[in-house]
Amino acid sequence: MPTVSDTERLTIRHFAHEDADFIVRLLNEPSFIRHIADKQVRTREEAVRYLDSGPVASYCAHGFGLNLVQLKGEGTPIGMCGLVKRDELEGPDLGYAFLPEFCGQGYAFEAATAVLEQGMRAHALESVLAVTLPDNARSNRLLRALGFRARGTVDLYGARNNLYEYRR
Ligand SMILES: CC(C)(COP(=O)(O)OP(=O)(O)OC[C@H]1O[C@@H](n2cnc3c(N)ncnc32)[C@H](O)[C@@H]1OP(=O)(O)O)[C@@H](O)C(=O)NCCC(=O)NCCS
Repeated sequence: MPTVSDTERLTIRHFAHEDADFIVRLLNEPSFIRHIADKQVRTREEAVRYLDSGPVASYCAHGFGLNLVQLKGEGTPIGMCGLVKRDELEGPDLGYAFLPEFCGQGYAFEAATAVLEQGMRAHALESVLAVTLPDNARSNRLLRALGFRARGTVDLYGARNNLYEYRR
């Protein structure tokens, strides 16, 4: 699978069907369901369909999408991070989610920094957006730490979200 970026502690690469078990785990974390959505992915087969219609379709359409984030060494999968293009937003936005046991150690910051740098360079982007629910304190904090600026709010999938923009 193509590697998107290598950082000090992480390897960030495109998803493949072999990641289906990890997807079932991540998408059913209470934190994922609460702060993102219940994608109704409960089985390995449903995870393969999610990967094909989501990240893999995005790689084909845009050259970018959500990626697997793994620890270097053992290759333990810890989360997802990447650029996505939704019809509802003008430009690409940054998406991320990590397993709870890998939060609070700077992994999301490290992965997002690498994804932004690689994605903006490879796709000649001037700006990347981000959306997050106002009560998702960790996510709002992460975006500000990455250098995103608040750009008001946007209604998305029936909820009001904070809108952020990162410019280089
Ligand atoms: C949003 C989410 C990715 C943020 O994760 P996170 O663990 O807070 O982010 P990081 O991995 O960058 O960790 C930051 C914390 O690690 C600390 N840290 C430790 N070592 C660090 C290092 N080497 N570098 C940077 N920060 C470090 C920071 O001080 C910070 O601590 P704080 O939370 O007390 O301020 C995570 O909560 C998550 O996956 N949530 C569920 C899904 C979700 O909400 N996605 C976003 C939808 S919009």
